[in-house]
Amino acid sequence: MDSFLIKGGVPLHGEVTISGSKNAVLPLMAATLLTADTCVIRNVPDLSDVRFMGKILESLGAEVKFADGTVTIRAAKVKGFGDYEMIRKMRGSICILGPLLARLREASVSLPGGCVIGTRPIDLHLKGLKALGAKLDIANGYINAKTKRLVGTMLFLGGRAGPTVLGTANIMMAATLAEGVTVIESAACEPEVCDVANFLVSMGAKITGIGSPTLTITGVDRLHGTDYEVIPDRIEACTFLCAAAATKGEVLVHGARPEHFAAVLDKLREAGVKVEPKAGALLVKSTARIKPTDVTTLPYAGFPTDVQAQFMALMCRAPGISVITERIFESRFMHVAELARLGAEISIEGPSAIVKGGRPLSGAPVMASDLRASAALVIAGLAATGTTQVHRIYHLDRGYERMEEKLRKLGARIERVEGE
Ligand code: UD1
Repeated sequence: MDSFLIKGGVPLHGEVTISGSKNAVLPLMAATLLTADTCVIRNVPDLSDVRFMGKILESLGAEVKFADGTVTIRAAKVKGFGDYEMIRKMRGSICILGPLLARLREASVSLPGGCVIGTRPIDLHLKGLKALGAKLDIANGYINAKTKRLVGTMLFLGGRAGPTVLGTANIMMAATLAEGVTVIESAACEPEVCDVANFLVSMGAKITGIGSPTLTITGVDRLHGTDYEVIPDRIEACTFLCAAAATKGEVLVHGARPEHFAAVLDKLREAGVKVEPKAGALLVKSTARIKPTDVTTLPYAGFPTDVQAQFMALMCRAPGISVITERIFESRFMHVAELARLGAEISIEGPSAIVKGGRPLSGAPVMASDLRASAALVIAGLAATGTTQVHRIYHLDRGYERMEEKLRKLGARIERVEGE
């Protein structure tokens, strides 16, 4: 297993370009199962999760070609039986269930896996599909779904922690080919969900209320092929903003859409980090002392749970106490123990992490536990003095395109060590 070797203490300086959004492209790829025509998706990040989704689609009978940041998919003929081992490995794969059911009226897909960030139920996905008229049963690790015809209905998709991102995408995709009108109340409003909706509209779907908690989908008989560019990855953008701030650097971030992460910009500014638009890009600059800042993760447009770990790494640099509260995933504090190895002082009180910032960080071997936790460890390693080795970076490779190359261009001393 590869690791990163980071010699920290160097402020990041220079320019970085943000890649396409992983969390948007995965459901977009699943949506191509809704048509027999060719779909072209551009600005696709080269990530292990994205290639893996390509393999899943191939295993269902689709032709998938990656070339220069573009994926071309033609699902002329598909089967509705997903390979157990493949799907189990990736959370995003649950998104094939809605499209397969809508297209074939019958599908069997294994229960999905993903990051270890808490229990990750799929009850809302199942509730939505049932409401559309699917008969579901779970046996031997598979979800078996069948329907004579999906029929539009009004359904409430909110759960204990608020709306569901992939659940909304899944049900919306299924509803595009259902008979009549589907209204999803408490729909997720994340930019990635809007991207899926816009992609479906470009295929001929009828969807209104995009970006609002009420989505109305009027079923059509068929969808056609499309050529579409995926949105930039707001989580990657926020990761680089936090990394620049934590190392007291100055970085120009290209290609990001600041309107997609206003809550993070607000908190960075509260922490005393300067972030301003400059020539179509975002300039982040951190010269002053970083101020302790409290953050609570919430559904969009609140502070994203996917930036909680990276922001915590930044708060380790802010003298004083910051309270970071996680409201989306209950066990998403796996990075706390690893940050402590670098010298951070953090305690967990229920859903909150109390960061006593300003303690000196010094390099140590640490273990990445999930995608965003890994990014937090890289940020802390860049800010620490001495050498940090981040083990198990396959988690990072799932969601960050050429991270070490991008960081090296910003002056970071970071290397990939193979097989350690
Ligand atoms: C997506 C993102 C993930 C992000 C998360 C929240 C992808 C591939 N992953 O995950 O990076 O952290 O949104 O922004 O896009 N829930 C239920 N029942 C369900 C589904 C979800 O109770 O059927 C709960 C979850 O346990 C969690 C909350 O709802 O507490 C939000 O989860 P959800 O939005 O569904 O996350 P994902 O779509 O899986």
